[in-house]
Amino acid sequence: MVTRAVVKGVGHYLPERVVENAEFEKTLDTSDEWIRSRSGIERRHFAAPDETTSDLATHAARAALKDAGMSADELDAVILATSTPDLTFPSCATMVQAALGMKRGFAFDLQAVCAGFIYALATANAMIISGQARRILVIGAETFSRILDWSDRSTCVLFGDGAGALILEAAEAPGEKTDRGILAVDLNSDGQYRDILYADGGVSTGKSGHVRMQGNQVFRHAIEKLAATAEAALAKAGLRDEDVDWIVPHQANIRIIRGTAKKMKHSMDQVVVTVQDHGNTSAASIPLALSVGKARGQIRPGDLLVTEAIGGGLTWGAVVLRW
Ligand code: ACO
Repeated sequence: MVTRAVVKGVGHYLPERVVENAEFEKTLDTSDEWIRSRSGIERRHFAAPDETTSDLATHAARAALKDAGMSADELDAVILATSTPDLTFPSCATMVQAALGMKRGFAFDLQAVCAGFIYALATANAMIISGQARRILVIGAETFSRILDWSDRSTCVLFGDGAGALILEAAEAPGEKTDRGILAVDLNSDGQYRDILYADGGVSTGKSGHVRMQGNQVFRHAIEKLAATAEAALAKAGLRDEDVDWIVPHQANIRIIRGTAKKMKHSMDQVVVTVQDHGNTSAASIPLALSVGKARGQIRPGDLLVTEAIGGGLTWGAVVLRW
């Protein structure tokens, strides 16, 4: 028998304010048609001025706890992936811990930009397998609207705010490909690409900075690296492309999502797509897609999922899990 990290609940939260592409036409030399055709994005949610990343995360966490039929006291840990924390410190994870009234266990943030949720799942999985914790709340939450340059049409139309959360619980399993839970993980980074996607500020620069991206350069890396990491994770699990029921990709661009699915020889019927309604919510995009995919009735118990993401760094990776 082996220990697996099994999904017990999922939930998400999107801020109330929805901004359609057409709104950007008022202030920028852009169009709904350009944004739709180049990215697949139609609208995104933006947080209210007094709403922070930990607020979004707390809503998503409550939804996941409700879905799992669990109370916060039953959690051993909170791992929160974000690049847009409320404060330099303490972490958003400890803020969520306090908001949930959870007085035991441990909580910390993790930062791998758009690949953050994959890194957080990998970390939670390792902690569960090693016996460090039995129940972990894994959150991806972002307020990218706070780090967008509203005069830069090549970035500000692409991102949105939101949060998603998953609860993983230790379960004993036979150690087979048919087990439920996380079956394999593949993580990568290559710091030589920092200049194609970064924020031009941070604590030691004295300003929070704005997203800067050479979109076509990131695009060039995306399809190849995402397909390769998904295939690597599947190979580690002893599984193949044809075993996959659902690809749950990072939601940055519909052309990247289509290209990766094609490279993995999957039709788009087996891909969960939310980019049209959420835009790129960075570390929140995968848990949002998991939660929406489940709510739509696409993802069902026993389905084999491969989820993959690429982000600033560059950082990229994939997780294979049976729902
Ligand atoms: N409206 C109108 N025109 C625009 C806009 C806009 N909003 N933005 C850029 N353009 C123009 C450019 O200025 C350029 O004009 P030029 O040819 O006169 O110079 C032209 O459109 C083409 O620009 P490209 O950047 O080559 O367009 P491309 O087809 O590559 O699409 C996009 C741009 C959507 C950004 C795409 O490259 C992309 O999605 N890249 C990947 C982004 C991604 O995956 N990020 C993931 C990680 S995000 C993270 O980690 C935080």
